[in-house]
Amino acid sequence: VKNPSLKGKYALLTGGSKGLGTYIGRALASEGVNLALTARTEPTLNAVAEELASFGVQTLPVAADITDDQSRRALLDRVMDTFGRIDILVNNAGMERLSRYHRLTPDYIQTMIRTNLEAPMLLARLVLPDMLARQSGHIVTMSSLGGKKGSPYTATYAATKAGLIEWTQGLREELRQTGVNASVICPGFVAEAGLFAVYNKTAPRIAGATTPDKVAQAVVRAIKDDVGEIIVNPSPIKPMQILDAIHPGIIRWVLRTFGLYDFYRQQADENERQFSA
Ligand SMILES: NC(=O)c1ccc[n+]([C@@H]2O[C@H](COP(=O)([O-])OP(=O)(O)OC[C@H]3O[C@@H](n4cnc5c(N)ncnc54)[C@H](OP(=O)(O)O)[C@@H]3O)[C@@H](O)[C@H]2O)c1
Repeated sequence: VKNPSLKGKYALLTGGSKGLGTYIGRALASEGVNLALTARTEPTLNAVAEELASFGVQTLPVAADITDDQSRRALLDRVMDTFGRIDILVNNAGMERLSRYHRLTPDYIQTMIRTNLEAPMLLARLVLPDMLARQSGHIVTMSSLGGKKGSPYTATYAATKAGLIEWTQGLREELRQTGVNASVICPGFVAEAGLFAVYNKTAPRIAGATTPDKVAQAVVRAIKDDVGEIIVNPSPIKPMQILDAIHPGIIRWVLRTFGLYDFYRQQADENERQFSA
C-alpha cells in the first residue's frame, strides 16, 4: 500500500450529488478525506454535503457546470480559497443516453463529449500545476467498460470513455516520478444507483451488474495502492480481452448472440420515444 492513510487529504469530487458520486463521497469521507463536491443541482448537492459532514470531515458543496470554462475556473478558485489545496481530483460526473447514433442531436453529442471527456481533461489541467509543485496528488477518472469496446446504441459514450482510458494512460506515464498519479476506473453495469439503475432494468445475464459500493471502493484502492486501471465487474474481463485480441469478432458474436445488443436496442427505442415526445 503506497498511501496507507488518506486522512486529512482534500478532494474535489465531480458528480457528487447523486448516483455513484454519493457512494464515492461516503467511501472517501469514511477514510477521513475532506470533500469539495460539485454538480449543477444545488439542493441535492447541499444535502449530500451535509450527510457527508457527519463523517467528521469538512465538506464544501459548490454548484457548477463542468462543461463551462468560467464555471470550472470559479469552482477551482472556490475550492482553493477554502481548502488551500486539492490532493485528489475525482472526475466522476458523466452522462449517457442509449440511442441510435443519428437520432442524437449534434448539440447533445457535443454536450456528451464536453461532459464526459473534455471537462475531466480540463479540470485536471487546472489542478495539475499545484499538484506538481507540491509533488503530490492523484487524479482518478471514471471511465466505463463501455470504453473498452464500442457497443451499438452507445457509440458516443464509448468514444468519450475510451478517450478517458487512453488519456489516463498517457498522463500516468508522463507523471511518473513526479509524485502525482493518475488512475482510471472502468465499471460494468452498476445496479442500485446511477445512470443505469434509473432505467429500472436487470442487466443482461451475459454482463451481470456490480454495486456502487464496489465502484467506490475501487476509487479508494486506486489512490491507496496507486493502481493505474481498475475494472469493476462481477465476472473477470481479462480472458475476454485476450480472446478478443486473438480472434477479433468472437466477443462481438457472444455479446450479440447472448442478447447484450438487443438489450441496448430496446432501451434505445424507449429513450428515443421519450426524448422525441
Ligand atoms: N451507473 C453505471 O452503470 C455506470 C457504469 C460505468 C460507468 N459509469 C460512470 O460513472 C460516472 C457516474 O455516473 P452515475 O451512474 O452516478 O450517473 P448519474 O447518477 O447520472 O450522476 C451523474 C452526476 O454527474 C453530475 N453532472 C452531470 N453533468 C454535469 C455537469 N455538466 N456539470 C456538473 N455536474 C454534472 C450530476 O449532477 P447534476 O445533474 O445535478 O449536474 C450527477 O451528480 C459517470 O462518469 C458514468 O459514465 C456509470
